[in-house]
Amino acid sequence: MGEEEMDFSEFQIDENEIETIDFGPIDLEGGGATMEELAEKLAESFLQTIQVLAAVVSLSEKYYETSHSRFVSEKAALVAENLNMDEEDILEIKIAGLLHDLGKVGFKDIIMLKYPSELNHVDYKLYTQHPEIGMQILRKYTGFERIGEIIYQHHEKINGVGFPRNLKGNAILPGAAIIAVVDAFHEGVYRLRTERSKAGGTGVKYYSNTAFLESTKDKFSNTMTYLHSKKGILFDIKVVEAFTDIMDIDREEIGVQKVHRCDVSKLEPGMAFARDYYTSYGLLIVARGEVATDDSIRAIQRFAEYDQVPERLLVMM
Ligand SMILES: [Fe+2]
Ligand SMILES: [Fe+2]
Repeated sequence: MGEEEMDFSEFQIDENEIETIDFGPIDLEGGGATMEELAEKLAESFLQTIQVLAAVVSLSEKYYETSHSRFVSEKAALVAENLNMDEEDILEIKIAGLLHDLGKVGFKDIIMLKYPSELNHVDYKLYTQHPEIGMQILRKYTGFERIGEIIYQHHEKINGVGFPRNLKGNAILPGAAIIAVVDAFHEGVYRLRTERSKAGGTGVKYYSNTAFLESTKDKFSNTMTYLHSKKGILFDIKVVEAFTDIMDIDREEIGVQKVHRCDVSKLEPGMAFARDYYTSYGLLIVARGEVATDDSIRAIQRFAEYDQVPERLLVMM
C-alpha cells in the first residue's frame, strides 16, 4: 500500500442506509463450509488460544529454575497415563497443567517470591484467588469448561484444608488431584525464593546434568519425603506413587544423557534442550527437557537473529 494516504470516505455508511442493508439469511449449515471444515477451524482456534494463554503464563516463569507450567503439564499427563485415564482426559490434564497458574499473571513480586505462609493477610487472600481467576478467564473461551474446572480445583486437598472451596476427597476431579501433586513437587524443588530472576538472559545455571542432579538432590528427596508423608491426608495416594515412579525414571535418564553445545543453525528435531531459554523480556521460548521440533527450531532461530537467545545452545543427546 506504500506511503499513500488512505481514503476512508468510501467506507462511511450513511445512517439512513443502514436499515436497507441486506445481511442475507444466516446459514447455520455453514454456508459452504462442511461440518468437518468447521470442526477443523474450531480445533485450530482452540490450539491458538492455548498457545496465546501459555505465552502469557510463561511470563511468570522467571520465578522458577525450570519452566513451571511445562513441567506440571508434562508430568501430570504422564501420571494420568500411568493411571490408565482415557486419552481425552489426559489431553485435558496436559492443557490444564500448562495453564493452571494463569490466574497468577500480574501478581506482584512479593507474592511470587514468598511462601504463602509468609504473606500478609491481604496478599494471602489475593494469592488464594488465583485458581478462580484462571477459571474465570478460561470461561470466556468455548471448549475450556472442564479444563477451567480442573484449574479451579488445583489447590484443593483431599482432607478439605485446601482452597478456594475446601473440597474433599472424591469431590476433587482426578486431574486436579494430579496437578496438586506435581505442582507441589515443582514448587518445592525449583521455585526461586529470592529477588534473583532469570529474565534478562542471566540464567545458565547447570552446565552438566551431574551438576543439575547434584544441586537438586536434597530438595528433590526432601520434597518427595514431604509428598509421601502427606499422601492420604493432603494428596491422593495413587497419584503420589505414580508420580514417584515417573520422577525416579526421569532422574535416571537425565543422569545418562550428555549435554552438548550446539550452534542454533545446526539444531535438529529430536534434540532435547538442556535448559530453559527465555527472551530478554522473560518470555519462555523452549523449556529444559523439551524435545526440539521443526516449529520450535524455526522459532528459536528467529529469536537468535534478534539476539534474543545465545548462538550456541545447550542440548542433550
Ligand atoms: Fe497454583
Ligand atoms: Fe503452580
